[in-house]
Amino acid sequence: MPLFPRWTNTVSRLSVFLLLALPAVAIGGLLIIVRSPYGTKVNRQVVQPIQFDHRHHVGDEGIDCRFCHYTVEKSPNAGIPSTQVCMSCHAQVWNKSPLLGLVREYYFKDRPIPWNSVHNLPDFVYFNHSIHVNKGVGCASCHGRIDQMAAVEQVSPLTMSWCLDCHRAPEKNLRPVEYMTSMTWKPDPGVDGEKLGADLAKLYNVHTRTSCDTCHR
Ligand code: HEC
Ligand code: HEC
Ligand code: HEC
Ligand code: HEC
Ligand code: HEC
Repeated sequence: MPLFPRWTNTVSRLSVFLLLALPAVAIGGLLIIVRSPYGTKVNRQVVQPIQFDHRHHVGDEGIDCRFCHYTVEKSPNAGIPSTQVCMSCHAQVWNKSPLLGLVREYYFKDRPIPWNSVHNLPDFVYFNHSIHVNKGVGCASCHGRIDQMAAVEQVSPLTMSWCLDCHRAPEKNLRPVEYMTSMTWKPDPGVDGEKLGADLAKLYNVHTRTSCDTCHR
């Protein structure tokens, strides 16, 4: 007659298994969260003080991105337009619309509209818009079809591996700089995209950039 009944054996085996498995499950779970859209903030909804709709400004009206994000070619930041920029049109266009009541209010109080940011890299990462757009990386390659978004969402993960994937082989993502802000640019039919990319890389003197101090300085 054994000292303990048989079932206690199964119980102790099970609890040993659980003890070993738990940390693995916990770590696995964390990794999934970190790599999921939730962790990277992809497609996260951001509520704005005024419902500014890129579809009506970029899509229908065909206003160039640089009209509002006017530092994008010259500085690290693309910049968010001031209330004055809004009023340069809305003093005339839709100047009675209740949808624009808040815009007028901020304008007359001479205060910036407190937009909430959608994209946010950690402070220890250095990013620079001007070098990207001047070397032929278009807005759409990183931000997607802004012209189809009622509210801007982050479409790229902005993780280090996402940056590095392009930095290792940038020629695949190049376009002629004059199509910088085009949301629909593709190589013309019949043009070899790979050759075009390689030619543009030569023309704009584009290098692979993978050393740590490119982005961590
Ligand atoms: C190589 C990828 C890439 C390209 C190309 C790019 N962006 Fe960005 N954009 C980013 C990243 C990354 C951020 C977040 C920067 C941060 O948090 O410091 C950002 C942030 C922004 C912001 C928020 C304000 C700011 O300056 O941080 C605006 C507006 C913006 N981009 C507009 C544009 C426009 C317009 C273009 C094209 C003319 C463009 N971007 C091209 C990656 C890109
Ligand atoms: C170059 C001219 C121009 C500028 C600059 C401009 N808008 Fe507009 N906006 C328009 C036009 C035109 C419409 C009407 C669009 C339509 O009905 O298709 C409009 C419509 C709107 C509407 C009404 C709702 C909608 O989306 O149709 C809001 C709100 C708005 N704009 C906010 C802003 C804000 C905030 C700014 C500044 C960041 C701004 N606009 C800058 C031209 C402009
Ligand atoms: C009429 C002005 C106007 C034009 C034109 C415009 N934008 Fe914007 N954009 C704004 C405003 C205002 C915001 C801040 C509110 C918001 O996020 O919707 C913004 C926000 C953004 C953001 C998110 C910034 C953040 O907080 O991270 C991106 C990315 C962006 N714009 C890209 C573009 C691109 C690409 C184009 C051209 C295809 C473009 N915009 C054209 C006014 C404009
Ligand atoms: C779609 C392609 C693409 C993506 C995505 C991309 N980059 Fe770049 N990046 C480039 C190209 C092309 C250059 C120019 C390289 C050269 O010729 O020096 C560049 C250059 C840079 C530089 C050099 C700037 C300087 O002044 O020396 C920095 C910093 C940088 N990228 C940061 C980032 C970060 C951070 C991310 C991710 C958040 C990122 N990039 C994502 C294509 C990309
Ligand atoms: C092209 C830009 C780029 C280069 C080059 C780069 N990093 Fe990063 N790194 C990032 C970005 C963006 C983040 C933050 C996003 C994230 O959490 O993935 C990051 C995050 C990190 C972190 C924080 C931990 C983590 O994984 O989130 C460490 C540590 C790091 N990088 C080390 C390095 C080292 C070491 C190198 C050189 C071998 C390097 N990085 C090269 C863009 C870059």
